[in-house]
Amino acid sequence: MTTEPFVIRPLGYSDLPRVMAVERRAFPTPWSLAMFVLELSKPSGVCLAALAEQRLAGYLICARYDRVWHLMNVAVDPALRRRGIASGLLDAMLERAGPEQSYTLEVRTSNAPAIALYERFGFRSAGTRPRYYRDTGEDAMIMWRTAQAPSASGAPG
Ligand SMILES: CC(C)(COP(=O)(O)OP(=O)(O)OC[C@H]1O[C@@H](n2cnc3c(N)ncnc32)[C@H](O)[C@@H]1OP(=O)(O)O)[C@@H](O)C(=O)NCCC(=O)NCCS
Repeated sequence: MTTEPFVIRPLGYSDLPRVMAVERRAFPTPWSLAMFVLELSKPSGVCLAALAEQRLAGYLICARYDRVWHLMNVAVDPALRRRGIASGLLDAMLERAGPEQSYTLEVRTSNAPAIALYERFGFRSAGTRPRYYRDTGEDAMIMWRTAQAPSASGAPG
């Protein structure tokens, strides 16, 4: 794995054109610009950007509903994957929102890379939502990370 330096900072509205470009390449049914604007407008959310060589390389959106954090979106530029960028975003999310908090997410059951990433961060499957994704009719795996989960980064040692 080539590890290139990247920095994590809060995601801002001015990042959204580049976010949309990555989003369209990352997902069969990308979020609209309005969905990102809505999430950025929520004061309790954790929205992060990863920058490599001063360019937006990835982003993460996590929203809080009552006492549970929902990991809503995470994506990395296809050219910059497997370099630890999503892991850096997840580490920063856990640091900001709190490693002791409860987190949940939905992921396509076919999305092995994302499931492997989430498992590495202590998320565990808690069932499925049948035909959750309207574009393909695919099921969603529901995953939870609770305070009892293993430590954040999953890195050995
Ligand atoms: C899932 C995604 C965000 C991972 O981003 P990334 O920056 O490549 O992830 P990392 O480099 O931090 O990977 C961390 C670990 O996750 C797992 N992982 C990531 N991509 C993987 C792949 N393609 N195959 C298997 N495991 C993978 C590995 O355990 C990896 O550790 P390793 O590289 O030491 O083996 C990226 O593939 C992506 O943007 N996919 C499209 C969007 C998406 O599906 N988002 C999730 C929606 S629920």
